[in-house]
Amino acid sequence: MRYGHFDDARGEYLIDRCDIPQSWTNYLGVRDLCTVISHNGGGYTFHKSAEHGRLTRFRPNAVPLDRPGHYVYVRDDESGEYWSLSWQPVGKDLDSARYTVRHGLSYTRFLCEYGGISAEQLLLIPVDDAVQLCAVTVKNDSGRERSLSVFNYLEWSFQHVEIDNQNFQMSLYASGADYADGVIEYDFFYEPWTYHFLAAAFEPDGFDCVRDRFIGPYRTERNPLAVERGACSASSERGGNHCGALHKKLVLAPGASRRLVFVLGVGSRREAGLGARERYAQPGAVDGAMGALKKYWDEKRSVLEINTPHRGMNTMINRWTLYQAETCVVWSRFASFIEVGGRTGLGFRDTAQDVMAVPHTNPAKTRQRLVELLSALTRTGYGLHLFDPADFEPRENPLPEVKLPTVKPAPSRDEIVHGLDDVCADDALWLVASVCEWVKETGRSDFFDHVVAYADGGQGTVYEHLKKILDFTAAQTGAHGVCKGLRADWNDCLNLGGGESAMVSFMHHWALEIFIEAAEFLGRSEDAAHYGALANRVRAACEKTLWDGAWYLRGFTGTGRKIGTRSAEEGRLFLNAQTWAVYSGVASAERRSLCMDAVDEHLFSPYGLHLLWPAFTKPDDEIGYVTRVYPGIKENASIFSHPNPWAVIAECLLGRGGRAMKFYDAILPYNQNDAIEIREAEPYSYCQFVHGRDHSAHGRARHPWLTGSAGWFYTAATKYILGIRPAFEGLVIDPCIPAEWDGFEVVRKWRDATYTIVVANPRHVEKGIETITLNGNPIEGPIPAQPPGSANTVEVVLG
Ligand code: GLC
Repeated sequence: MRYGHFDDARGEYLIDRCDIPQSWTNYLGVRDLCTVISHNGGGYTFHKSAEHGRLTRFRPNAVPLDRPGHYVYVRDDESGEYWSLSWQPVGKDLDSARYTVRHGLSYTRFLCEYGGISAEQLLLIPVDDAVQLCAVTVKNDSGRERSLSVFNYLEWSFQHVEIDNQNFQMSLYASGADYADGVIEYDFFYEPWTYHFLAAAFEPDGFDCVRDRFIGPYRTERNPLAVERGACSASSERGGNHCGALHKKLVLAPGASRRLVFVLGVGSRREAGLGARERYAQPGAVDGAMGALKKYWDEKRSVLEINTPHRGMNTMINRWTLYQAETCVVWSRFASFIEVGGRTGLGFRDTAQDVMAVPHTNPAKTRQRLVELLSALTRTGYGLHLFDPADFEPRENPLPEVKLPTVKPAPSRDEIVHGLDDVCADDALWLVASVCEWVKETGRSDFFDHVVAYADGGQGTVYEHLKKILDFTAAQTGAHGVCKGLRADWNDCLNLGGGESAMVSFMHHWALEIFIEAAEFLGRSEDAAHYGALANRVRAACEKTLWDGAWYLRGFTGTGRKIGTRSAEEGRLFLNAQTWAVYSGVASAERRSLCMDAVDEHLFSPYGLHLLWPAFTKPDDEIGYVTRVYPGIKENASIFSHPNPWAVIAECLLGRGGRAMKFYDAILPYNQNDAIEIREAEPYSYCQFVHGRDHSAHGRARHPWLTGSAGWFYTAATKYILGIRPAFEGLVIDPCIPAEWDGFEVVRKWRDATYTIVVANPRHVEKGIETITLNGNPIEGPIPAQPPGSANTVEVVLG
């Protein structure tokens, strides 16, 4: 069953059935303001922080599933009939009303045809202006004059998610809203510096600021009293719940149309609202903002454009997976319909991985994130698992200290820096790779010498930070010579009771190899030799203790029990232990094929690779929380998406392009477009997990958008299947593709030059280079960076 399709020509996903059993969301905003919006207009807006900067309210995990939202109602003032421009909240009969939704990159269009009126609600946040625009176009297709009312409606939030959702005894009386000069201003009594506004870029005919006056008693957004009546009640009050509702009456001749623009933003009426009103009253202002948004994304998309025989891969890599990966970098993980702003800041491991994928499309933001992560590294060499970068930034013009009645006081520096008990052993290791990826992309090796303060005092260069990470991990070794997992490794739920984690040792080796490459490139040969010897020791220890005969162990518990061994009844085989044995370069030639064959044999399903097999069914706290999760869900033997691309990478390193593609395809959301009765979630977004075969809903995907799988699939597809990887000294070309492909083309911008890379596969191999030419000249090894501004042709023949 399908609910829409990819409209590649317009770069949109078009939903033509709005009665999807789940919300299919989109993210508006690329800098400071963000709206998470569902295909039914439900969702919320926040400024900078989904925890502290809420503009509009959301009732999470409720019935119906995505209320309230950013709604527009149209009322026929002759008949009194009304509808909304998104299918919900009014929910007109889909046999008489035609609804389509177009999710694009950072905008969504809701289109509705009903009763001879066609209308569009376009929502977007301009690139350089932290306001949300809601542009409503109403057209009379009916052949007779029509009198209509247009209402826009949103519900204000109490700004802090905590006081918005609990303990209302103070917060319910701490904000007020009023209307003047086309602008509703929402103020916070306890934070007299904070205002939000909703402005009309036209002369409204009415307004409501008090939510319950607009909606009416015992009603919902589905049937608001003001809309039913055709008039707002000019309500305004201090205290209570507030809304931004503006009403405009229109008389449209046959064929005539009218556009109304509503602007939502941060700031007072005087300082921000009136200016915004004027800006967007200018003809062309909204279209200009749309044009700039398109340019913003077109520029990013042009840095790496692929053209392969795989249509789904082209669509996903050229647009949706890149978009999802960028979204994770900009908004991290705490703003969705699943994580609804309960936390602020960055997860160390999540962000350190997210930035690895998009240094080419967002070098500035990824550098900012790297510095934030480096600032959250302790002198001991471990990262703070969850931190707010603002805690480490010098505060300019600090806001007045007002202790809000229900908000906890800010923690002191000592409280922010947690101890070893809360260290996840993998967190900081990712950063070694992310820093190096950024330098490989940009060529800015001076970044290694950039000085950054440590979270707990003192400072060091970026290079020194990386050494501390490698040294810390080396010091955290357990009885078998394998790295301790500490609180957990990548798998939050595999705690091992103080035991050892194969994944961390493999990651240590991986990070060491990457660092050694950097040290050699920088001419720091002593470091290269020192860490080279360490890498050899790590590899030897892993190979000695972690091989279980047909695959690698996942680790040891604190009491020395083997995890992921052939004799275990449950948790016999773990995906990450195999993929990382290969990806890290630890596994020998023979073992690497054997362990990845085991992955294919035991973990594969048509929806992707399971994280482990068989699922745990009995709680066992020595193994960890994973044993207390239902079989087939999340970390307990679901198809956890994030580790799947590591299997794609591992197969590419083995030269098995067919199998790499089999793994890529199984979980590719695009391929599930017509199976939504199974998948349920958006086909344009990777989800955190897909229910595994031990669950009755095998194949159902959950938790879209904010997952590390987007970045890693982007990496696996572009750097390993297509094999185009920046290195310190050149652009490596090393594809590993399905044998049946005749070839592919990639246009890659790298360090200010453009490379059109044409790969031919006349002998239908999966891997191996016969010849490479650069601008007609044969070349060996990586392509050296070409002069800035140059356009270059690279011809590759596989064989
Ligand atoms: C969630 C967490 C991530 C973790 C993963 C596996 O996605 O955000 O940090 O690695 O679960 O436990």
